[in-house]
Amino acid sequence: MLEIKNVTISYQDRPTVKDFSMSLKEKEIASLVGESGSGKTTVIRAVLGLLAGGGRVTEGDILFEGTSLLKNTPDQWRRLRGTDISMIFQDSGAMLNPIRKIGDVFVEYIRTHENMSKGEAWKKGVEMLERMRLPSGDNIMRSYPFQLSGGMRQRVGIAMAMTFQPKLLLADEPTSALDVTTQAQIVRQMMELRDEYGTSIIIVTHNLGVAAYMSDWIIVMKDGRISDSGDRDAILNGNHNDYTRKLLEAVPSLGGERYV
Ligand SMILES: Nc1ncnc2c1ncn2[C@@H]1O[C@H](COP(=O)(O)OP(=O)(O)O)[C@@H](O)[C@H]1O
Ligand SMILES: [Mg+2]
Repeated sequence: MLEIKNVTISYQDRPTVKDFSMSLKEKEIASLVGESGSGKTTVIRAVLGLLAGGGRVTEGDILFEGTSLLKNTPDQWRRLRGTDISMIFQDSGAMLNPIRKIGDVFVEYIRTHENMSKGEAWKKGVEMLERMRLPSGDNIMRSYPFQLSGGMRQRVGIAMAMTFQPKLLLADEPTSALDVTTQAQIVRQMMELRDEYGTSIIIVTHNLGVAAYMSDWIIVMKDGRISDSGDRDAILNGNHNDYTRKLLEAVPSLGGERYV
């Protein structure tokens, strides 16, 4: 469903991600891992046409369901984002408007993509929140972001991202700001979404434990290039390179029963 082919991504004509390739099938989960600055965010933002700072794909191609995304018009992007492909961020709270109630933002979001009355959109929002196991969706809709915990805000972000049952969900460090217990819950919920909706997921994480727990494929990045990649078992048990080994050693719980 997604194929990234030998892509180079540059900021102000300085190549930052070089010769990056990966492919993902329906229902698969891939993780991009690697230290800060290795280019993980750049890759997933390129998939959604949301590169900041004048970033551009200067070589290669990105195909979604067989069609190049790079030729998309602004109008095509608007229709694709939030529907076929959607994204969640490290702290969804930061994306939500601090002075607007969740429900106002959610209803407006739904109505930009679907012709619905406010009442219908509200009901759909509540239903999505409750699917993410947020108790009393109505109360959440009437809350301001600051009234919710980080974990709840992240569930709100995921609920919004899943509203239109995207085929591909891009998640940029979705659990990094959370405590370990909440992290584990969110990771499991994302895996359930994959099972329930058949969504493919690319998760960016610097936590190889999270990657190991949830992914079919792991791609290790270093300095804008792929330094190691393979299916989960190959990365965890194979003759990985020194850099991967260092990352593995940095995950204390790895090898135990639980990865996250
Ligand atoms: N908006 C931007 N303008 C210029 N350079 C950027 C921008 N965003 C990221 N970069 C550069 O791209 C490199 C990779 O960044 P990023 O993709 O955010 O890495 P990661 O997500 O792995 O931490 C960094 O060295 C950073 O300096
Ligand atoms: Mg990043």
